[in-house]
Amino acid sequence: MKTAGGDAAAKRRAGERAAEEVEDGTVVGLGTGSTAAYAIEAIGDAVADGLEIRAIPTSFQSRQLALEVGIPLTTLDAVDRVDLAIDGADQVVDDPDATAHGTLIKGGGAAHSREKLVDAAADRFVVVADPSKLTARLDRSVPLEVLPDARTVAADRARVLGGEPTLRAAERKDGPVVTDNGNLVLDCDFGAIESPADLARDLSAIPGVLEHGLFVGLADATYVGTDDGVEIRA
Ligand code: 5RP
Repeated sequence: MKTAGGDAAAKRRAGERAAEEVEDGTVVGLGTGSTAAYAIEAIGDAVADGLEIRAIPTSFQSRQLALEVGIPLTTLDAVDRVDLAIDGADQVVDDPDATAHGTLIKGGGAAHSREKLVDAAADRFVVVADPSKLTARLDRSVPLEVLPDARTVAADRARVLGGEPTLRAAERKDGPVVTDNGNLVLDCDFGAIESPADLARDLSAIPGVLEHGLFVGLADATYVGTDDGVEIRA
């Protein structure tokens, strides 16, 4: 299993470049994580310079940052459409010849349920990443947000599907990570994932799983920060 991390300068370039795509009068989904945070800060700068938008955050963390930088917020219920969502990823398949090209693993910040809700609702979903996130085949653990009561049975079902589930522990205190929705996270190691679409379908069918971190067919483009610029992969 690969670990999260990455290049902060590359993340900043990707986030700031994606923020340039935000147009006046639009509704924007704000992703979660350090790369999306660079986009949120840049959007905040643009708002301070007169850009008029409304934004929908995907987590407590992105909501707080958006408020700090002065971005007006709204909700999915209050808008007719979401024009653009900008969000990070833990892994992105980067192989134009592969069926899974552009498929993501998300949920490193335990926010993938709301992220999927907002990213899927957007007319255009742009992923922001540094090069460490690109891969030929997904092989990081897939996070499952599960109802607390489903923890054991969902873990058993994940094992039947070939996964090795681990309850995500909080870093700074004893006990598990609790999501913004009051649920738990099972990180399921499936090794190299042969068919993300099939696994996504099977994980969605587990009772008590609110959402899994496989994003299949949702991303329109990936903005990859490099040493000296940004590459756009469609
Ligand atoms: C949160 C996510 C993040 O977008 C993902 O973990 C990437 O984070 P970072 O940009 O900090 O590397 O899916 O649930």
